[in-house]
Amino acid sequence: MNILHIDCSPRPASHSRQLSAGIVEKILEIAPEASISRRDFAVAPLPHASPEYAMTLSSPATLAAPLKGALELSEALIQEVEAADVIVIGTPMNNLTVPSVLKAWIDQLLRAGRTFKSTPAGKMGMLRDRPVFIGIASGGVFTGERANQPDFLTTYLSVVLASIGLKTVQFLSVQATAFLDKDKAVLARNEALALIDPAIMARLS
Ligand SMILES: Cc1cc2nc3c(=O)[nH]c(=O)nc-3n(C[C@H](O)[C@H](O)[C@H](O)COP(=O)(O)O)c2cc1C
Repeated sequence: MNILHIDCSPRPASHSRQLSAGIVEKILEIAPEASISRRDFAVAPLPHASPEYAMTLSSPATLAAPLKGALELSEALIQEVEAADVIVIGTPMNNLTVPSVLKAWIDQLLRAGRTFKSTPAGKMGMLRDRPVFIGIASGGVFTGERANQPDFLTTYLSVVLASIGLKTVQFLSVQATAFLDKDKAVLARNEALALIDPAIMARLS
C-alpha cells in the first residue's frame, strides 16, 4: 500500500502538519507495511502553470498536440496520485480557501482527457476513487454555530477532487488555532483524529 502524504504549511511545526502526520500514523497502525510518497509544497513548491502548459490546455486541438515538455510535471503528479492507495493532505485555511501552493498542485492535476472528461453535464472523473483525508488548520472557526467566516476550502476541494474521480474525501480540522495553547492544541488534534471514519479505514486494511 502506498500513502501519498502532502503538506502545505510554511510553518515547520504547524497544526496542519501535525494533523496530517497523525492521520498517516493511524493508517500505518492498520497498514504497517505501507510506503510513503512525500510532497512538501512549502519546502518544494510547484511552479505556477507555465506558458507552455497553459497554451497546451487552452483547447482540445492544442491538447491533442501538446507543446514539448508542457505536460511532464502534470503527468508526474497525476501518476503519483494514481500510484497512491490513500492520499493525506495537511493544509492551512488561507483567506477562506486553499493556500496557493496547494492550488498549484490542483492546476496540474485537473487535465481534460487525462483526469476528467468534459461533458455537457460537467466534468466526469477518470481516476479510480481512493480515500483522501484532508487535515485542515484554521486560525478562526469555519464550521458549526461558532463559525465566523465562510468556508470555500472544503467546498472547493470536494468539488475539484470529485471532478477527477476522488469522491471518498474526509475533512478533519483543528480550528481556532489562534487561541490554542499547546495542551489545547493536542486535545483538538486528538479530537479530530478520533473522527476518522472507520468505514474508510476498513477499505485500507
Ligand atoms: C495568509 C494567511 C491567510 C489566512 N487566512 C485565514 C482564514 O481565512 N481563515 C482562518 O481561519 N485562518 C486564516 N489564517 C490562519 C491560519 O489558518 C492558521 O494560522 C493555521 O493554524 C495555519 O495552519 P498551520 O498551523 O498548519 O500553519 C491565515 C493565515 C495566513 C498566513
